[in-house]
Amino acid sequence: MSQNELYLPSAAWQAQANVKGMAGYNALVAEAEADYQGYWARLAREFVTWQTPFTKVLNDSEAPFFKWFEDGRLNVSYNCLDRNVERGLGDKVAIIFEADDGSSSKVTYKELLGRVSQMANVLKARGVKKGDRVVIYMSMSVEGVAAMQACARIGAIHSVVFGGFSAQSLRDRVQDAGAVMVITADEQLRGGKALPLKAIVDEALDGGSCPTLKDVIVYQRTGGKIGWVEGRDHWLHEEMAGKSEVCEPEWVEAEHPLFLLYTSGSTGKPKGVQHSSGGYLLHAALTTKWTFDLQDNDVFWCTADIGWVTGHSYITYGPLALGGTEIVFEGVPTYPDAGRFWQTIAKHKVSIFYTAPTAIRSLIKAAEGNAAVHPDRYDLSSLRLLGSVGEPINPAAWEWYHKHIGGGRCPIVDTFWQTETGGHMITPLPGATPLVPGSCTLPFPGITTAIVDEMGNDVPNGQGGILVVKKPWPSMIRTIYNDPERFKKSYYPEELKGYYLAGDGAIRDAETGYFTITGRIDDVLNVSGHRMGTMEIESALVSCTELVAEAAVVGRPDDTTGEAICAFVVLKRARPTGDEAKAIAKQLRDWVAKEIGPIAKPKDIRFGDNLPKTRSGKIMRRLLRSVAKGEAVTQDTSTLENPAILDQLSEAN
Ligand code: PRX
Repeated sequence: MSQNELYLPSAAWQAQANVKGMAGYNALVAEAEADYQGYWARLAREFVTWQTPFTKVLNDSEAPFFKWFEDGRLNVSYNCLDRNVERGLGDKVAIIFEADDGSSSKVTYKELLGRVSQMANVLKARGVKKGDRVVIYMSMSVEGVAAMQACARIGAIHSVVFGGFSAQSLRDRVQDAGAVMVITADEQLRGGKALPLKAIVDEALDGGSCPTLKDVIVYQRTGGKIGWVEGRDHWLHEEMAGKSEVCEPEWVEAEHPLFLLYTSGSTGKPKGVQHSSGGYLLHAALTTKWTFDLQDNDVFWCTADIGWVTGHSYITYGPLALGGTEIVFEGVPTYPDAGRFWQTIAKHKVSIFYTAPTAIRSLIKAAEGNAAVHPDRYDLSSLRLLGSVGEPINPAAWEWYHKHIGGGRCPIVDTFWQTETGGHMITPLPGATPLVPGSCTLPFPGITTAIVDEMGNDVPNGQGGILVVKKPWPSMIRTIYNDPERFKKSYYPEELKGYYLAGDGAIRDAETGYFTITGRIDDVLNVSGHRMGTMEIESALVSCTELVAEAAVVGRPDDTTGEAICAFVVLKRARPTGDEAKAIAKQLRDWVAKEIGPIAKPKDIRFGDNLPKTRSGKIMRRLLRSVAKGEAVTQDTSTLENPAILDQLSEAN
């Protein structure tokens, strides 16, 4: 990599940035190396307001169940709201809500504090207590953010379930969390259509399947017709009427769980990733300050949904903790047309924009096909920084993003992190790091990412390996809810010397030491930046017991979505062909949508009389990956019982 392939931050950028130049970056890295705990303690005092200051920093006596700042007490909602009002930011706009239909409204810090406190009083009046779990199944809305903050205010643990998940997925999560309450909306508006939310909640809770659940609070978004269970269901506006706008925050210990967020792993069942209050808030705020360089006049827009971790850290917590102004966007990037993002940036003078490579790739295609929605037609001069998250960004998409959205002047922060890490792990800092398209560059100061072999030994730069984090960090996952053993096995396998296993492969450039993520090393797919377990989709398919005998799911590269889901299915009946195969494939796609959600629908479904297996009966997934890609099979197939099935499985429906 030669110097002229690097994009250097301009002198002006360096001068105004929160972290200035590589000298600034290196000084922070050196500080963390010299005194790891002292470094995090300093930042925890600077970025978090503690009701009771901590005296202990890291407790590793029960590793890998680490504790940070454990004798400190705080309230996350106090840190995001009251603190800003006390600092004189009461009249500053906290949230600009951009609705699906293009209308918008603004909420100040003072108003948001009032609304969150009222909602917290609603929860309290319904008996929700510190430590209780509350599931939030909401559209993108101020109320969605406020519901999360209201839980934080009273020490209840929220578990947001993305509004695209099915009733079955929602039920699994309510049951696993033992939730006492669900907060939802009647419907959600997306792309001009009203989509059900409350009806899905009704189906999920049907027949007393969730015995811990007492109340459902419903935010009225559309006024559409919905079912109602007397005694269980309550309108949010009715509950809020007359409630006080003051609610004393519940001061919780730093390790008190702030939230659970279910994510896919390599086995069938999604895992409830548990995060803390103190350490999590610290990293959400710190990364917003350093990676996004958030400053007083910025208008920050993270396009993620609050149902994903990106929406937690960079909508609900990080920007609010710093007293920033941010956009909450209800709609979709293609409505009313594929210029929506660019038009919205121009309308609200967005200065920092954070989105996923999939969105960029699909908007490149749209712009190439229709000059009317090309970003060059919009005034994007308010932008000063761009970000990318969720999947690798290919250099061509990076260059387009840089040129057409960033006007060649905005740095791009390609942020690598995970649900489990709570915030950015490897990322450029915009006023410091020279950029290379396609590389997430260097570890965030204080984060000890490294590349090792299967035994945990360091591998030299230029040689790929397994991505690990050597030392615990404040915003790390604390456990898997209800399953500490699975936590240990998934993230701290014995052979890795006590390092955190991220589940990704990576390589460091021989010259610069820059990291490039090469993709998951487990059975997890990344489709449009959404994490999907292959086993999860397989179990959904085989649960269609009427039709399916066996199923194997693999990923294949896709130009737009990064990876696409490809399912190989053996039916209980003769292998279908032609129109019949198409019809059954559709039936199975709909089945998966019902079991998990539309995001898990396989793009390809192939039928065979059998699956390729080794003599011991193990499915040869590597071979299926070649078939899915349409590649010639070069692997040894001598152990295959019936090589003709490979031809069958190669046929698309
Ligand atoms: O494979 C990596 C990929 O997304 C995974 C984490 O997914 P999730 O927990 O859903 O969180 C997504 C948002 C933080 C990682 O294990 N990933 C995330 N960011 C990047 C990435 N891959 C490459 N480059 C990134 N910037």
